[in-house]
Amino acid sequence: MSKSNDQFPDGFLWGGATAANQLEGAYLEGGKGMNLADVMPGGKVRLKVISTPGFNFEIDKEKYTYPNHDGIDFYHRYKEDIALFAEMGFKAYRMSIAWSRIFPNGDELEPNEEGLAFYDRVFDECLKYNIEPVVTISHYEMPLYLIKEYGGWRSREVITFFERYATTLFNRYKTKVKYWLTFNEINGAVFHPIFGLGFSPATEDVRLQESFQGLHHQFVASSLAVKACHEIIPGSQIGCMLIYAPVYAIDCNPANVLYAFQEEQLFNYICGDVQVRGEYPAFSKRFFKENGINIKMEDEDLKIIKQYPVDFISFSYYMSRTEKKEKTAEEKAAGNIFSGVKNPFLQASDWGWEIDPVGLRLALNQLYDRYRVPLFVVENGLGAYDKIEEDGRINDDYRIDYLREHIKAMGESIEDGVELMGYTSWGCIDLVSASTGEMSKRYGYIYVDKNDDGSGTLERKKKKSFYWYQNVIATNGQEL
Ligand code: BG6
Repeated sequence: MSKSNDQFPDGFLWGGATAANQLEGAYLEGGKGMNLADVMPGGKVRLKVISTPGFNFEIDKEKYTYPNHDGIDFYHRYKEDIALFAEMGFKAYRMSIAWSRIFPNGDELEPNEEGLAFYDRVFDECLKYNIEPVVTISHYEMPLYLIKEYGGWRSREVITFFERYATTLFNRYKTKVKYWLTFNEINGAVFHPIFGLGFSPATEDVRLQESFQGLHHQFVASSLAVKACHEIIPGSQIGCMLIYAPVYAIDCNPANVLYAFQEEQLFNYICGDVQVRGEYPAFSKRFFKENGINIKMEDEDLKIIKQYPVDFISFSYYMSRTEKKEKTAEEKAAGNIFSGVKNPFLQASDWGWEIDPVGLRLALNQLYDRYRVPLFVVENGLGAYDKIEEDGRINDDYRIDYLREHIKAMGESIEDGVELMGYTSWGCIDLVSASTGEMSKRYGYIYVDKNDDGSGTLERKKKKSFYWYQNVIATNGQEL
């Protein structure tokens, strides 16, 4: 056990993070409508299947399994799970609401009471233990009807549906939820629009045009949500959510350094600049022009965006990215939803995600320097295979090592002057992987007995990391 200085402020929001579609299950219960996650097959084919143009958004049980349908059955076991979070000492629980539980199709005028009541029960359970809910309004699960009938976020009409959905949540949960996030990993759409925007462009030629048009609609929707949140819940805080990876150049060749810098601007900063600074950055104009991107806007859009920026930035951090201007297919590194080239100084997880705690310190400093708003690390963690020993224990020291080094990096950045609100590590309880639909890619402090083929008792078991994290929280990050 190593000791750090007293770096983490009082009230630091230690906890864990999940998303509705990856753990709730009960995909047809409680009046819920179908959503994107319900048609995402399990296994490594997932990303390819859903992002192939022409994908019909239908279930095909002859060919695939659908692990999100049952998840880990949080829908029925949330009390047991939240009790375990409380036992670890969580101060915060980042979770998401399934849009299609509240508006089954997405475009209704009235919400589904059964869906609203479910989240009331979940929030009450959290509050019983003084766990602060941190709620993502949209996390990779757009109602399927909006995808099929409206073409996802391509359509401007979706802004109104989202605004209605967000406003419904603020009104209903105004006494229970203070922290809100609008769109999960909004900038991920630059690489894979399917998860966040609910469509895959038909050809590479229109990919950037359609993705940035969809993002623009989300920017307006997000600002309208910020406005509503502040009006309805005084004292609330609402943030954007980015997937953040500092981009390193492979060497000091200025051409590679410039390329890495430009990738960083494009991927890491456009969304943050719009959502925090309230305007498209200077560099975006040239990028849009040179790539034939022409965003259709209405007169008020830029005013709305300027007037209602977010209060804080939340982000996921799993890895850094290393770039080279000219790279061959063999040089590409496997990555989360983006990939650069392999970094010779870094080890990778079993899924090829490069492990780089220093990158988290950089990320925090870069974001704070640029935006000067509080930051919140709402996802971070190691997806790994776990083994149950003969004595029943799960000794996940590799996970503890990963988390320890990343928490140390956060401590360093707080000393660097960064204002950090909290840390909710990803998948605090094992759940279905977003990119592969596997159960065997586990992140949790709590093991769930469920296998990739769907078999298992769903029994929950505490891993070694459960006790370790419990102590981290109890000592406010002083004992790592
Ligand atoms: C983030 C997502 O990209 O990474 C989560 O917000 C996801 O939904 C997490 O689960 C880890 O990715 P994966 O593919 O290992 O589940």
